[in-house]
Amino acid sequence: MFAKIALSLLSIFALASSAFAAPVNSQTQSLARRYTSFDNWDGISSLSGFDNFYGSDNFSGEVSTQVVAEETDVVCESVSITIIQQKLLVLQEMARQIITEQICEVETQTIVFQQYLSSVSHFSDDIMHTSGLSAGYDSSIVSHYSDLYNSDGSLSAYDLGFSGSDAGQSVVVPSGTNWNSATSPSSVQGAYIAAQSAISGQGAANAAIAVNGTI
Ligand SMILES: *[C@@H]1O[C@H](CO)[C@@H](O)[C@H](O)[C@H]1NC(C)=O
Repeated sequence: MFAKIALSLLSIFALASSAFAAPVNSQTQSLARRYTSFDNWDGISSLSGFDNFYGSDNFSGEVSTQVVAEETDVVCESVSITIIQQKLLVLQEMARQIITEQICEVETQTIVFQQYLSSVSHFSDDIMHTSGLSAGYDSSIVSHYSDLYNSDGSLSAYDLGFSGSDAGQSVVVPSGTNWNSATSPSSVQGAYIAAQSAISGQGAANAAIAVNGTI
């Protein structure tokens, strides 16, 4: 008797969950499809036109083909590591300034910063010669650095007149690195792994601090 009731309850449950299964699945699918576009995502108007920059379905804007400027002959020259770290920190703080001063919706701040991180991360594959692209920079995009600020030091707010798809169209590839096709593939891999373990070791240490509530 009890088993029979249990069985029929079970089949009612099975029926009910299969009845729910279809709408849940189609919802997931339509969500997945919707997420490839961030134009007005979740009704947020500051995301209007988001997809136009790199093209829809191209969130991280990974450059597929480069146009290398032939006429330049730029050679790398070693500068002290502290100066390099200072310059990269300036760029990092500028990104923070742009995102916090010129976007007011925290959701848009979140999405745009993830796009930035993902887009910048592709450079790793160029440096390590695993992308098929050269490690260089788009000199025409770089030339806009002075357009980011007004003369009074505040952030500018005008259209710089280019799109994400212009990145990689006038690439300068400095020569003079120590790349050696016989030994560098493994030495950069070793360098990459060492850096990654420093990152995750740091992460573990921070997590321990957060859990213990002490430093
Ligand atoms: C994604 O964007 C980058 C940068 O604009 C471009 O080079 C690449 O071709 C785009 N990829 C696709 C699949 O559209």
